[in-house]
Formats: sequence, C-alpha cells, structure tokens
Amino acid sequence: VSGDDHQELKSPQAAVFQERAAHYADFYSKTKSTITYNFHRRLEIASDFATGFGGALLECASGTGEVTESILSSGAFREATVVDLSTNMLEQARERLQRLDGKIRFDFVNQDIFAFRPTNESGSYNLILCLGLIAHTGRLEELLRHLGSMLAPGGGILLQSSLANHVGNRLKTRWTGRRSEQQEGYRISYFRLNDILRGVEAAGLKVRRQQRYRLGIPFANRIWPAGVYQAERLLDGVARKLGGEAVFLLQRP
Ligand SMILES: C[S@@+](CC[C@H](N)C(=O)[O-])C[C@H]1O[C@@H](n2cnc3c(N)ncnc32)[C@H](O)[C@@H]1O
Repeated sequence: VSGDDHQELKSPQAAVFQERAAHYADFYSKTKSTITYNFHRRLEIASDFATGFGGALLECASGTGEVTESILSSGAFREATVVDLSTNMLEQARERLQRLDGKIRFDFVNQDIFAFRPTNESGSYNLILCLGLIAHTGRLEELLRHLGSMLAPGGGILLQSSLANHVGNRLKTRWTGRRSEQQEGYRISYFRLNDILRGVEAAGLKVRRQQRYRLGIPFANRIWPAGVYQAERLLDGVARKLGGEAVFLLQRP
C-alpha cells in the first residue's frame, strides 16, 4: 500500500470513513432491506455497464471492495489500481481482492483521488470506477476532468450519484442534512440529473448509458425490510424513470 502519510488526519471524510469501515461491508450483505437493495442494485448495474471493458482498471474509492471484486471477476482486467482515502477501507478491499492476486497486478494507494496521478506504465486506464464518491467530495466537474485525463482511448468511467431532485433524497437532506454536516464536518452533495449531465458535457465527456434505480419507499423499511426489498425489485421498471440513484457510463465523444 502506498500513499500520503496520515491521510486520515487531513480531511473530515477520511475520519468518517475510517470509522465506517468496520460496518461498511454490511451494506452488501445478503440481508434484505431497503439499504442492502440500494447497494446490491449499484453493484448489479455497475457490473453490467462494465461488460466489454478490460485491461487496466482504476478504482477511485474502493470502500470495502465489493463492486471492484465483482467487476474484476470478469477476468478481463490484467491490472487494477485501487485508491481510497481511508486506510481501513483500503485494507479490507485488499483482503477481499487477494483471491484475484496472481491473475491481476494490483496497486493499492491510500490517497485523495484529486491528488492521485496514474501509477501504471501506460499512464491511463480502460475503466475508472467512481461509485458512492461524489456525495462526499462535491466538485463534480473538477473530478470528471481529472478522471477524463486518465482515460485510455475507448475507455469508460462509471459514475454513481444520488439524485437531488428525488423527493426522498430532498426530504432526507432537509431533515438530516444539517445534523450530519455538524457531526461529520462536511456537507453531503446530491446532484440534480441535469447538473450531472451539464458537468459531464463541461468535462468533455458523453453519457453512453444511464440507469436510475431505487424508489426509496418511505418508512416501510422499519416495519418489513425484506418486503420493501422485494417491492423495490418488483418496481424496478418505475425506478428506472423515478429512482433516487443513478449510474452513468461516460466516455469521450
Ligand atoms: C460511500 S463509500 C463508496 C465505496 C464504494 N465505491 C462503493 O460503491 O461501495 C465512499 C468511499 O470513498 C472514500 N473517499 C471519500 N473521499 C475520497 C477522496 N477524496 N478520495 C478517495 N477516496 C475517498 C471513502 O473513504 C469511502 O471508502
């Protein structure tokens, strides 16, 4: 593992995710709830959008590495650079990805993605994963320009965001936004769909595929989590139009 020393002291995000690392993998567990539905669906859509890409992968913010593992399991990648701001997250991702060692050349980097520069020989990547990150960084256009500068010809960026215009996300921001900002030391950034599309264009990229998901059925999760999980699955067709989350596949025009 390489990277700057003491990243965790440098930003509130690092401190928050150092703590969350102990439980983060639970979001991908087999337990059924509205929360696990959100993460299972993120993983499914990202894995689907990654089909056809191979070569060098850059993971911008691995968390505990579940999506990274799913995408690398295709066998199409020969090298993977795995970045995260939190050493605890990165260590768990490293343990999870160990089973692929030997088949894939790994580089684990503990760094802020904005400070990261390519560490591989080619200096670029065929697929860049950026899931669950921009809510914690904001600066969408700056990030996309940075990621775009590391994209190999024909390469793709998978971007995931919560959507600010979704009614459930709006209420969440109104009810818990200020408290979470006070507790965690930074404001969560949800983007409107149009703002994402504008940011993508301004960064010189194009949306090749996009999919919305997760209606976020309110309150019912407390009463019957497994039922809400099934209801979300059944209503996926509606969520494709109205969902509060989205995954985008971005490429150069
Ligand atoms: C919500 S988790 C998402 C993890 C994973 N991508 C997923 O989809 O499950 C956000 C991750 O981003 C990392 N992170 C936050 N800000 C970062 C930054 N500026 N550079 C790199 N990683 C960052 C956190 O440490 C955390 O592991």
